[in-house]
Amino acid sequence: MVSFIKASVLIFCLFLVACANQNKAPESLYDDVGGQPVMIKITDNFIQEISFNRTIYQYFAKTNIDRFREKFIEYLCVSTGGPCQYTGDTMLKVHQGQKITEADFNTTVDLLVAAMKDAGLTYPQQNRVLEVLAKTRREMLYQ
Ligand code: HEM
Repeated sequence: MVSFIKASVLIFCLFLVACANQNKAPESLYDDVGGQPVMIKITDNFIQEISFNRTIYQYFAKTNIDRFREKFIEYLCVSTGGPCQYTGDTMLKVHQGQKITEADFNTTVDLLVAAMKDAGLTYPQQNRVLEVLAKTRREMLYQ
């Protein structure tokens, strides 16, 4: 009898867990990759990658890196569905006048991929992040 009650309680608990999971919203890309600590890690790795690349670093020679760091973390967070607010300028405004070539854009994407890899993102996760960031690609090129 006791074991029957124990089994019934166990089954009821499993039922409750199953119900709770059904009502949960699908996990965002932000949560999937590890949330804010990972946004920060990607950004710091990215800044390091940029500093090692002579061609791409030239674009950032006059940039306030503290501001870039803060805004890039926010931008990554919002783009991946995280609970942040982006307080920086639009991609068009920021990159306008820099005359970024396709080749330099692609190199920067490679640096970002290396930054994501070092932050522990899997290959499919890296692609999902690139997919959301690529939406504003046209706003950054040749402007
Ligand atoms: C993967 C695509 C890219 C994303 C998501 C991105 C995003 C951003 C963000 C969020 C900022 C900060 C905005 C602010 O300060 O209000 C920024 C600034 C900047 N980006 Fe990009 N960017 C991308 C590609 C590039 C490329 C390809 C270059 C050049 C090769 C570049 C050069 C810069 C520079 C120089 C700044 C700082 C501008 C300043 O000093 O005011 N970005 N970017």
